[in-house]
Amino acid sequence: MQKTFYIKTFGCQMNERDSEIMAQLLSEAHYLEASDADDADLIILNTCSIRAKAEQKVMSMLGQLRHNLAKKPNLKICVAGCVAQQEGVNIVRKMPHVTLVIGTQNIYDIVRALEIAERGGNKIVTSLDDTYRIPHFLPQSAKGENNNPSAPYRKFITIMQGCNNFCSYCVVPYTRGREVSRNAQDIIDEARTLIDSGIKEVTLLGQNVNSYGQTNTVIDGKDKGEYGFSDLLYAVSELKREGLKRLRFTTSNPKDLTDDLIACFGSIDILCPQLHLPLQAGSNAVLKKMNRKYTTESYLKIVEKLRSVCPDIALTTDIIVGFPGETEQDFEETMRMLNTVRYHGSFSFKYSPRPGTRAASFEDMVDEKTKSERLMRFQKRQDEICLERNQEYVGTIKSIMLEESDSPPLLYRGRTESNHIVHIQEGIQGVAGDIVDVRILHAGQHSLQGELV
Ligand code: 5AD
Ligand code: SF4
Repeated sequence: MQKTFYIKTFGCQMNERDSEIMAQLLSEAHYLEASDADDADLIILNTCSIRAKAEQKVMSMLGQLRHNLAKKPNLKICVAGCVAQQEGVNIVRKMPHVTLVIGTQNIYDIVRALEIAERGGNKIVTSLDDTYRIPHFLPQSAKGENNNPSAPYRKFITIMQGCNNFCSYCVVPYTRGREVSRNAQDIIDEARTLIDSGIKEVTLLGQNVNSYGQTNTVIDGKDKGEYGFSDLLYAVSELKREGLKRLRFTTSNPKDLTDDLIACFGSIDILCPQLHLPLQAGSNAVLKKMNRKYTTESYLKIVEKLRSVCPDIALTTDIIVGFPGETEQDFEETMRMLNTVRYHGSFSFKYSPRPGTRAASFEDMVDEKTKSERLMRFQKRQDEICLERNQEYVGTIKSIMLEESDSPPLLYRGRTESNHIVHIQEGIQGVAGDIVDVRILHAGQHSLQGELV
């Protein structure tokens, strides 16, 4: 009988994409994907360690899996991703029922590593290599982004891995290793294969896509640094002729956002007017302690340039409140940045000390109560701005790419180029991925309502 597997993914889009790759490799090795963890012979937790809470969730889930094991003694349990990379052998010490711990650079080897571990061999495969290169060919599944069945026309493409920035709060350089850019031709080939299979929208993924091509050669005939992210964007956008309708990317570090990249928002028509630009904090003193290498002034300059080439660009951000030493005054500066940029949306977090990072040993930790209070103040104001921003769309006409809903053949929602969800009252006959024009009639905090024009 065929063995079955189930993958539970935590954390960012990078992990979502890695889970998809593992699923595809296992399918090629004749495993079947189970729709429920209880039915699986192999459970993989693809983990995140960005904040303590994410890591605790993984550990408690691993503890619970003991019960599954009692019912099904042959069950195999695998831990992948950032917690696997960082904790390695500690996981097996605490949880001896774990079959395999596989690191962020090793997932491509999952099938072989499992076979070896199951035969009683090495259980910890977490080598992190400075000369690592992303494999030429990364398998894509026939399902949509995040294995999300409602978006079968949209996919992620990994273009980079790792990070060299060492922001003082962040574990990523330790869990994902040194920054490495993928070969440009491999990326274009992958995009072309996706488009041939009906994909209409791709998102280029990396921890810091703006520095694409800076640390290693990405295309024959050029030295490193000679082919950058904007070159890649132009090359991928050529695939418009083959059916690519929308192009996005994430994530950007403001320190590397060059003028030629900003210009892309004015010159590449399929590049969606939307950018996630993590600010992290609005005080220059805090930014310096975070090792972010930009100031609020240089950040605002970028925002101004972006809006001058692309007036309706929707900007979103990440914010950390309560970084060590953050004063009330510092936090007010973050609120001031929120009110100046008026982000279309944001992800905000309480600072969480992570083992091995520089900030974990800083003095002046901010107490939990103050962190919670600042987070609430930030989120309350952001919610108000989200509503105001959404109201600006009322009366305008927007193109939406339809998404599947529960009641085929009619489709009831889609996404604008700026990545806002629009619900439509009268369903539209069509397939997910079709683009239609709608007039925006109402705005809520999290979504818009419209009618077909
Ligand atoms: N504590 C809280 N938030 C963090 N982030 C990264 N590290 C930490 C940490 N130690 C946030 C940043 C980053 C997002 C992915 O997670 O805002 O942009
Ligand atoms: Fe993604 Fe960072 Fe979490 Fe790793 S630690 S899963 S890279 S968000």
